[in-house]
Amino acid sequence: MQTYLIRTFGCQMNKHDSERVAGLLNEMGLSPVADAPEADVVVFMTCCVRENADERLRGQVRSLKSVKQARPGQIIAVGGCIGQRDGQELLRQIPHIDVVFGTHNIAHLPALISSAASQRQPQVEVMPESGGFASDLPTQREHRWHAWVPITIGCDNFCSYCVVPYVRGREHSRATEVIAEEVRRLVAEGVREVTLLGQNVNSYGRDLYGEPRFAEVLRAVANTGVSRIRFATSHPKDLSEGTITAMAEIPAVMPYLHLPVQSGSDRVLAAMNRHYTQADYLELVSRIRSAVPGIAISTDIIVGFPGESDADFQETMNVVAAGHFDQAFTFIYSPREGTPAARMAGQVPREVSQVRFDRLVELVQASALENTIPLLGQTVPVLVEGTSKRDDSMLAGRAPNNKMVHAPVPGGHTPEEFVGRIVDVEIEDAQTWFVAGHLAGTNP
Ligand code: 5AD
Ligand code: SF4
Repeated sequence: MQTYLIRTFGCQMNKHDSERVAGLLNEMGLSPVADAPEADVVVFMTCCVRENADERLRGQVRSLKSVKQARPGQIIAVGGCIGQRDGQELLRQIPHIDVVFGTHNIAHLPALISSAASQRQPQVEVMPESGGFASDLPTQREHRWHAWVPITIGCDNFCSYCVVPYVRGREHSRATEVIAEEVRRLVAEGVREVTLLGQNVNSYGRDLYGEPRFAEVLRAVANTGVSRIRFATSHPKDLSEGTITAMAEIPAVMPYLHLPVQSGSDRVLAAMNRHYTQADYLELVSRIRSAVPGIAISTDIIVGFPGESDADFQETMNVVAAGHFDQAFTFIYSPREGTPAARMAGQVPREVSQVRFDRLVELVQASALENTIPLLGQTVPVLVEGTSKRDDSMLAGRAPNNKMVHAPVPGGHTPEEFVGRIVDVEIEDAQTWFVAGHLAGTNP
């Protein structure tokens, strides 16, 4: 075995787990390739939060059957949330899979791959609870200037539609000193930006210290000297005044917040087990906006939750209009087996959800554009990530408020010289999902 390919679905936690898988495979002496026919090991890091991710995974794994026939000895491994949920059952459905592993035993993947290869026998290992944080494993980061840093794993919130608490287990926090120590090491390696990860970062520390201590994590991470701190995801019911103060006071904490609202209807929010009302949510947003001027706020919204009426949906449109979101990730409700919502009365027909979804997307786009226009004429510091997907003569990176910014590579320079650097860009064009301008002043 010499080569590997990792395909990642779903959330940022999975992206982070994939970087750990890459680190482990590198340690085994394998090197990455871009296409499945060249790979001796193909690893799928899967997501089961909605049905379409589930189906896409099955489609992709099934379509590897002929690839595998053409490359005898190829190992196909399925991990992440579907591995955790389905275990042995996956092998029954797709017999050409060689390894199934879960969300708690990434560290065992090399051993499982070796056993599958030497014994020519499929290996399945899924563990009910976590034995530690994946961060203690080697890593192959996607970018040298950015790192994902999990601060909690698991989730205790049990939103009634969501499968995550069942596949990722109970919430466990990492000690603050351990997090700070990891970030200190990352900074020494050249990392400029960290994204702190957790399903609900705002309840960080409850299991360890008996009270939430997210603000203290922000302060400890800021003390490492890292240039930029981002985090996800925030739950409105747990976002404390102390955290808002920390966001306002610490310059390295970027003025951007992902704050899922899920619905605007108080009745639906109660059925979702979210523990806040539309009024609570909007009041929180307004406190955050006055504490952190210019902050960008994004959200997640589900349409077609069981029992959602036209009037309930109208409340969701109202909260989007009032929330002035920079971005909203919108989803049609997808029933997940084992969750309370899947058994609720009043499942909404797909056609009804689709019409609501389309109306919502239109409103979200208008709101995003409305938020980009004030950037015109401003000069903003941009952390350069690479070049624009559509035009490799344009640098692409993020403003502090997470807006994508494009600017031409200055004459006589290559894009690589700028990757991982923070440069000033004067904004002269605003589109819905990005702004464009040119490097200002003495940047090069
Ligand atoms: N159906 C649709 N969307 C869902 N999400 C979570 N579970 C479901 C589901 N069953 C959405 C929520 C969450 C985001 C990560 O995915 O909006 O915030
Ligand atoms: Fe799922 Fe709710 Fe936990 Fe987020 S907070 S992972 S939506 S249960």
